Amino acid sequence: MSTEPSFHIGALPIFGRTILSPMDGFSDQPFRSLARRLGSAISYTEFVNALDVLNGHPHLERRLTFLAAERPVAFQLFDDDPERLLQAALKLRAHEPDSIDINMGCSVRCVSGRGAGAGLLREPAKIAQIFHSLTSALDLPITGKIRIGWDEDSLNHTEIAKIIEDNGGAAIAVHGRTKSQAYRGQANWDAIAEVKAAVKIPVIGNGDVRLVADIGRMREHTGCDAVMIGRGAIGNPWIFAGQDRHEVSEAQVREMVLAHLQAMQSFYGAELGLVLFRKHAARYISPYGLNEAERALLLTSQTAEDFARVLDELAMHSTLA
Ligand SMILES: Cc1cc2nc3c(=O)[nH]c(=O)nc-3n(C[C@H](O)[C@H](O)[C@H](O)COP(=O)(O)O)c2cc1C
Repeated sequence: MSTEPSFHIGALPIFGRTILSPMDGFSDQPFRSLARRLGSAISYTEFVNALDVLNGHPHLERRLTFLAAERPVAFQLFDDDPERLLQAALKLRAHEPDSIDINMGCSVRCVSGRGAGAGLLREPAKIAQIFHSLTSALDLPITGKIRIGWDEDSLNHTEIAKIIEDNGGAAIAVHGRTKSQAYRGQANWDAIAEVKAAVKIPVIGNGDVRLVADIGRMREHTGCDAVMIGRGAIGNPWIFAGQDRHEVSEAQVREMVLAHLQAMQSFYGAELGLVLFRKHAARYISPYGLNEAERALLLTSQTAEDFARVLDELAMHSTLA
């Protein structure tokens, strides 16, 4: 890796231009760590509710634990209340993240419906207040992750981006969809280019990057400083190392599956780690065209040893070989 930073977020040097997206249920410490090792430039945590931070939710510790090797680490917060966000950010300072990111993109009803996540896009003045108060009170970069608007009739990505910048925000990640689109349709890369043209702070483009070639295409199309990859990295973290899934050998897949499982079991405990790993396993094996029975055999394995044994048996008898 180059010794020259690719770009800076505030004073924070960033090495590399691909980043694992924050993903609830996926971008936990084990997955972030392996993505980071392969080349993801920043570790964004799964989003955390400011209310939970203030109330001390028992699950929080797990969501916010990170390894030193993961740095730079961005904690992502969501809420609709500027004062709670400020108090939560101040409390999280004790964990020493490298930056704090405000989620303005979550489309699910229980978040956006109460004005948090993408719901904030309908209240630009609140976004200004949030960024002004957090950047004034904290000595670390405050960044934002947005969608391009609430719906097609209220696209306001450039307005929001300028508000973030004018109020001290250090970088903006843009998922090129509206809240109404959720995950449907195609991400609007033109809108990401518009944000890049509107602000001087780094812009991280996001949406529909599945192949290594898409990374270059998005950077060329939008001029963005880095590319954030979500769904395309699940079962395919090699994208951060510049390798497409079909280029990854069976031996590499086997090694990754077992290392990822082991990391999850040591992080969550043997039983929960195995259960939580199944969603990753399904994605690692999806290119192999296993039949239902074979998939079930693998995904219902009860121990890591069973899992490894089934994987090896399938490799002997199927297209895995
Ligand atoms: C399962 C899942 C969970 C997600 N959780 C979060 C989250 O916690 N915070 C966030 O900002 N975005 C979250 N997202 C959105 C992604 O970060 C990303 O913006 C979106 O998936 C588009 O990028 P992609 O096309 O590369 O997947 C989530 C997406 C998925 C699929």
